[in-house]
Amino acid sequence: MEYIDLTTYLNDIMKRFYPIGVEEDGGVTRLGYTREEDLMHEEFVRIAKEEGYLVETDEVGNTFISIKNYDEYYLIGSHLDSVINGGGYDGVIGVAVGLILLKLIEEDNLDIPLKVAAFRCEESSNFMKSTLGSGLITGESYDFDSLVSQKGKKLSEIFQNRGLNEKPELIKGIKAYLELHIEQGRILENKDLKIGIVDAIAGNIRLKARIKGLAEHSGATPMSLRKDALCAAGEIITAIESIGKNYKSGTAVTTVGMIGNYPNSVNVIPGEVEFSVDIRDKSTKSMYDIKVEIEELIEEVCNRRCLSYDIKLVSNADSVVLDENLRRDLSKAAKDLGINHIIMSSGAGHDAMKFTKLTKAGLIFIPCNDGISHNPEEYAEIEDAVCGAMIILEYLKEAAK
Ligand code: HGY
Ligand code: MN
Ligand code: MN
Repeated sequence: MEYIDLTTYLNDIMKRFYPIGVEEDGGVTRLGYTREEDLMHEEFVRIAKEEGYLVETDEVGNTFISIKNYDEYYLIGSHLDSVINGGGYDGVIGVAVGLILLKLIEEDNLDIPLKVAAFRCEESSNFMKSTLGSGLITGESYDFDSLVSQKGKKLSEIFQNRGLNEKPELIKGIKAYLELHIEQGRILENKDLKIGIVDAIAGNIRLKARIKGLAEHSGATPMSLRKDALCAAGEIITAIESIGKNYKSGTAVTTVGMIGNYPNSVNVIPGEVEFSVDIRDKSTKSMYDIKVEIEELIEEVCNRRCLSYDIKLVSNADSVVLDENLRRDLSKAAKDLGINHIIMSSGAGHDAMKFTKLTKAGLIFIPCNDGISHNPEEYAEIEDAVCGAMIILEYLKEAAK
């Protein structure tokens, strides 16, 4: 298959996925275990069946396609769900690259056992827990009752209604796991490079904090007698930002992405506020130290303001180092193809981090415009994705010998 055909083929695939869950402003919303994510998996299956590939769906709703059945195989994967009002490349470009690799293997009659996977609910946007589909089949177990969707549905109910299994069989037979993903940062762009090979993926801790004050009349209650939950949250949220900004590791990030204010009325002093905290760092220890710092901060502010609070650990994932030999092999494949690249780490989480327990896992980044992601403006060049696919193919040809 000629190079130009590959970019056309990849472009066509991306165009088929894009309209699903698209919003007026061009962003996409396809939350994990919702109708929109189902439609993405249905489109993935449709494309596979048009090509005559084999389609398998596992006990948690992940979709796998391949040219034929293999006991042992290389696995290329990523996700088809998105954040709320996100971009069309996050996850999708990695699944689409898997499709062009199958096409090349078939066209060139290469003896490479490859499966392509779309994992369910990689984003934490629906349940505040990321990499659910890949985590479950690589041996993780979760408290399904405590994981509640944006719409207030328990994951346990969703799994029951869908006939899914909370304790699926472990995936087996993987010789190596590979993923191509947009960088979601500006490093590649700033260095004018098209390829990054990832050595480590930051972990994450997600907390849900609730602050309880007293809803009262905003006109009749003197300032000195108030128990304003939103003012306390405001003080805490900016302090959480400065903890992330000034943390000694230099790679920590802290974000309050979600907030609920009750009763959220113009003439009522906010009685209760709930907000999320997303803590990330390359070092797992740093993340937990930051977690303690934030818990102490919330305690200090609430005690001083005579408010009550509770903090819940909703989810956590340790940071991982990716397989050094696989990273070296991918770097060699890139060099053999004359493709300039850097070794870099990932601040974002990826399905790849779940496979390090079972097999060697590799992750290749391509740039996205101005590093923007989780935003309707997210954009990546199809040619860069094809370039990444060529590196993976070069690696697979060598590895499968
Ligand atoms: O949030 C993340 O780390 C990514 O989008 N999964
Ligand atoms: Mn994402
Ligand atoms: Mn992603």
